[in-house]
Amino acid sequence: MAKIGENFIYELKNLCDIVSIIASYVELKSVGKSRKCLCPFHSEKTASMVVYEDTQSFYCFGCGVGGDVITFIEKIENLNYVDSVKFLAHRVGLSIPDDDLDDQISKKRQRILAMNRLAARFFYNNLKSRAGRIGLEYFQNRGLFLETITKFGLGYADDSWDSLKNYLHANGFFFEEMYDADLVIKSTKGTYYDKFRNRVMFPIIDAKSDVVGFGGRVLDESKPKYLNTSDTLAFKKSLGLYGLNFAKNAGLERFILCEGYMDVISMYQNGFRGCVAALGTALTQAQVRLISRHVDDIVILFDSDEAGALAMDRAYKMFLEVGISPRALRLKGAKDPDEYVKKYGSARLKLAIDQSISAIKVKIENIASKYNLNDPEQKKRYINEYCHVVSDILDPLEREVYVGQLCQSLKVAREIINNHVNYLLQKKRKICQKRLDKEISRNIYTKRMHKNVCSKYEKAERGIIRFLYNNPDYFDYISSKIDDSWFSSKLNKKIYNIICDRIKSNFALDFLLFHEILTTDEMGVFSKIVNEGKDFANTTQEIDDYMRLIREKYEKEAENISAMTLEQIEVRRKKYASGKR
Ligand code: GTP
Ligand code: MN
Repeated sequence: MAKIGENFIYELKNLCDIVSIIASYVELKSVGKSRKCLCPFHSEKTASMVVYEDTQSFYCFGCGVGGDVITFIEKIENLNYVDSVKFLAHRVGLSIPDDDLDDQISKKRQRILAMNRLAARFFYNNLKSRAGRIGLEYFQNRGLFLETITKFGLGYADDSWDSLKNYLHANGFFFEEMYDADLVIKSTKGTYYDKFRNRVMFPIIDAKSDVVGFGGRVLDESKPKYLNTSDTLAFKKSLGLYGLNFAKNAGLERFILCEGYMDVISMYQNGFRGCVAALGTALTQAQVRLISRHVDDIVILFDSDEAGALAMDRAYKMFLEVGISPRALRLKGAKDPDEYVKKYGSARLKLAIDQSISAIKVKIENIASKYNLNDPEQKKRYINEYCHVVSDILDPLEREVYVGQLCQSLKVAREIINNHVNYLLQKKRKICQKRLDKEISRNIYTKRMHKNVCSKYEKAERGIIRFLYNNPDYFDYISSKIDDSWFSSKLNKKIYNIICDRIKSNFALDFLLFHEILTTDEMGVFSKIVNEGKDFANTTQEIDDYMRLIREKYEKEAENISAMTLEQIEVRRKKYASGKR
């Protein structure tokens, strides 16, 4: 874990109020003394994330994510601890003392970024060489101007097993590092060779202008068409967007979501600056949220094939889930935006985009064309499918409008349609809740907290921790009466000991300072402990009860253990080691 001086963190904390930081990402609503918002870390329709000003912490009662302002930045910006501190420091104009930045991971990541930058330059320069001519010709045949090629830093990986490897090696990088950057592959014999060979290269540049990875396309029809950098310390495919670096700086209020690298580039060349695409995977919820943080006018412009239609269906629902009603455009007469601009020109495409209608409407029009409404059976199926689409809409008013349209055009009683839509809504909510429960139960901490199966012992342990944290003056009183082996939860014991150590050394008991010692998940639990039920366990009487309770449990177990056979002890030990207690 990183070593950044506590003084620095303290100063940073004073400048970064968690309420205003979180408010710059999500809309906070005041509820009594606390503030609530829709959790940006899972999909939800009612606010279950609470931000506590007094303890400078947050906690989501839906998914169990919680912590301090640094945890929040780690999660929302997908940065490690050191980079999150840097990010916040940069935001408030503090600079971190250099000797504070010796973090291993951060250094490794920087090395990967440096290699990527060199590799991108290497691929780009190849275009000018004799061996790279075919790469340049490929791009030119697809209508790209030199200016565009340079703008996107496109390049060519030549048909060799070791040219990039040798180049990076000559620049002071080790094979093992290249492997960590996913630029070389390790053979079964343990030797390394270039991952990208005989492919045109698309560097993936993040919002900070770092080259985080690559996509490489074959020049012919061979497979796989695209090869992408796998996840590395510098790259998470599911979180980034191709083209975001340009789109975000174009100052536009509308983004266009395309399917592929080539669409983004060709659109850019034709004057469409706000285009982004997923990175060689199906669109993820994280990418949808990322887009929604920049704009709320989105046009989904996918390929015109069946796959594109399916992807659009998936995408628009994902936007609805984050509270955005996107537009959609289905192109006619060309297979994708790239081909469309070439064939019909950018003015036509611009008009089509400007006039594009809400994805829901596109969907509804599509359904209508599938059924013969004179046939009662088909009419029934049409109504059912229509209601399904309507039940995906979050805004009740918008639902009303679509229900009204259906009733009017088919002369069906409004009540019947409304009932059916409500039925579907409820069904979907149940499915949604099930999915959420599943997500939550993956995390053992949150499972225990969420389902409220927190045992009375666990409650007592937490009560002691919370009391001591809020009343450090009682340290002597508590530590003289308690033994840390009484804690049955390893994490509670750890937190208890950290608090005691800090009190003993006269260090500040600040929530934020625990971040150096606890992991992000552990911070979430600690946040919950500190914030839950502030009004119980306030008297020494209650604390005495808690201590007695956990001592009794400990003594009872100790007795049991002494009565056990060796085999029973072995079974218990194994169970304990695997965490199934
Ligand atoms: P062109 O065919 O050159 O026009 O590229 P495209 O970007 O339009 O490709 P396509 O429409 O086939 O695919 C859209 C996106 O899906 C691409 O940009 C890639 O990100 C991704 N993709 C396509 N083929 C592959 C593949 O074989 N593997 C992976 N991982 N991703 C792919
Ligand atoms: Mn395409």
